[in-house]
This record gives sequence, C-alpha cells and structure tokens, in this order.
Amino acid sequence: MKLKACIKSIASYLPEKTLTNKDFESFLDTSDEWILKRTGIKQRYIASETENTSDLAYKAAIKAIQRAKIQTNDIDLIIVATLSPDYFTMPSTAVVVANKLGLKGVSAFDISAACSGFIYMLELARSMVESGAKKNVLIIGAEKISSVLDYTDRTTCVLFGDGAGACVVSASEGKGIIDIHTGSDGEFKDLLCTKRSNQTKQLEPIKLEMKGNEVFKVAVKTLSDDVSYLLDKNKLKTSDIDLFIPHQANLRIISYVQEKLGLSDEQCVVCVDKFGNTSAASIPIAINEAYEQGRLTNGKLMLLDAFGGGFTWGSALTYFDGIDYKNL
Ligand code: COA
Repeated sequence: MKLKACIKSIASYLPEKTLTNKDFESFLDTSDEWILKRTGIKQRYIASETENTSDLAYKAAIKAIQRAKIQTNDIDLIIVATLSPDYFTMPSTAVVVANKLGLKGVSAFDISAACSGFIYMLELARSMVESGAKKNVLIIGAEKISSVLDYTDRTTCVLFGDGAGACVVSASEGKGIIDIHTGSDGEFKDLLCTKRSNQTKQLEPIKLEMKGNEVFKVAVKTLSDDVSYLLDKNKLKTSDIDLFIPHQANLRIISYVQEKLGLSDEQCVVCVDKFGNTSAASIPIAINEAYEQGRLTNGKLMLLDAFGGGFTWGSALTYFDGIDYKNL
C-alpha cells in the first residue's frame, strides 16, 4: 500500500515579551497609526537576551510531539527552517534542538528558504515519509529575527517578530497532503536579504535589509499566481478550501491575495496583527492559531501560501489529520 504523509499535529511558542507599535514611538520616528495602516501589525513578540532560536523551536516541538500522540524517540528526522540560526552556518539549529529533546543519532538539518521555509520543509517531509525513508518527521519554523534587525531602521524593524511553530508529519491513514509547489528566483536576491557576505574576511553584524515597496509588488503577484496554479493543477476551486493560511507579512498583501482569489473572511486566517512577520515560523504559527481557535479540525482542507527572501515561494494543499484541539 502506498504510504501517505499526513500532518498529525501543530503547535507554536511565542516568547513572553511583546513590543507594541506604541513602544516603538519612544525610540523611533514612527507611529502606531503609520504601522497599523501600512501593515495591519499591532504588536510582535521579542525573545529575551538569553533565549535563542533553538529554545523557541524546542518549546514548540515539545507541544507538537505531545499533540501527535507519539514519543519523542519516535521522531526520526528533525528539520528547522530559520534565517536567524543559533550559530552562523554550523552546527545547525536542528541539531541543537535534537540535543535539547534528548535525541541521540536522529537525522537533523536546517534549510534556508526565508519566509517560505515551512512549505519547503513540508515538501521534504512528505517525500521522506512517502518514500519510506522516515516515519515521523518534526518540522519547525523558528526565528529570533530580532537578532538580525537594525532597530534604528524604521522601514524594517517594525515589521518583524520572534516565535516558533512546529508540526509532525507522519506516515498514516489520513487524507494527507495533496500537493505542494515550491519555486525561487535569485534575480531578486538583493531586495530582501541579511547582509554579511561570508566571503568578506571581516565579520560584521548581520543585518536584515529590504526594499519594501519592490518586495510588495512581487509578493502580491507571486502569492496569488502560485496558489491559482496549484488549485488548477488539482482541479479544485477556492470554494473547496476550508482554510486559506497565507504567510503573515502584511495585512495589505493578505487582503489583496484574498480578494484576487475570491476567498471569504471565514476561509482566511489572519494573525499578523498579533505576531508581525515571523518569517519561517509565520505559517505554522498561523495554522496553530486556527487550531487553538477550533477553526482547524480533523479533515479540514488547508491551502498554505508563502513568499520570502530569495525570492522563494511555495504553496501547499493539505488536509489536517491531527486530533481536534478540544479533544487533546
Ligand atoms: N514609520 C513611519 N514612516 C515610515 C516608516 C515607519 N516605520 N517606514 C517607512 N516610512 C516612511 C518612508 O521613509 C517614506 O517616507 P518619505 O515618503 O518621506 O520618503 C514613506 O514612509 C513611504 O515609504 P514606502 O516604503 O514607500 O512605504 P510603503 O507604503 O511601501 O510601506 C512597507 C512600507 C514596508 C510597509 C511596504 O512596502 C511593505 O509592506 N512591503 C512588503 C514588506 C514585506 O512584507 N516583506 C516581507 C515579505 S516576506
């Protein structure tokens, strides 16, 4: 019998401290009104000095493993997507998380696909499970993005927040993952990047830089084109989708895509107001919001849609095959 990869659980973790738009007014030439109007963001969470990306990832992972009703040592692969890893290039954050989980000998590695990281990991996890190579894959999008932000640059620092979202993908008899599509275009590499070329001899602090206006234009087009492609390919209509869960970067981008695709507010998951853009963690955090609000229950069909630095993008059509939140 052909193995089917299924999303068995979802969980997230946010650090304690929030940074509101008003808080920025005390040290930056900006206002709550400007940020809210241009982005829809009201607040974001910021990790403490001593909290690393792996700590956020670990806390989300523990919950995801419990919710999947498996033991930690049933996990045979950990993948972390992040643009703010604990270490620069090595060891991977996935290896650090594996150690925190007490797992010795487990396969573990990171991927770099910016805000599209979750969709890329889902595609990898699906192939690993359906090929029979792995049974239970833990995928985690985690960011301490505050560590690569320049808090004197008002055009970028107000947009982002820290957090982590984790998910267990297992071989099971559920309805499973239907289809995933990912892509990239390196022509746009300088529009959204963390500058510090590893070819320069002198190490400077890493700093996220973005040409917001140009990113916006490509993002709205790519996000809507990619989901339309995936729906057409699978002969599905937007009305077949229970929940549309886009990357939470900016309310204006989400609203544009929602309108273009003709999706209702009931179908659309929006939480950018609470978390800001958490990059690779954004989609799993948003899935978890829907889950904990009781909107995402077993058997619901999700359409995931991501876009990020590179540029990278991806979309996924998948059922949720986990236990309903109220039955945990
Ligand atoms: N507070 C107040 N003013 C600000 C500001 C802030 N935080 N950031 C920028 N401005 C100013 C600019 O300096 C500019 O001033 P000027 O006209 O005097 O030069 C003005 O606001 C307009 O700047 P602009 O960059 O054209 O604004 P915008 O309408 O494009 O909005 C973004 C800026 C970043 C909100 C918007 O471009 C955006 O959302 N881009 C996509 C970003 C994104 O989601 N990236 C991640 C994708 S994964």
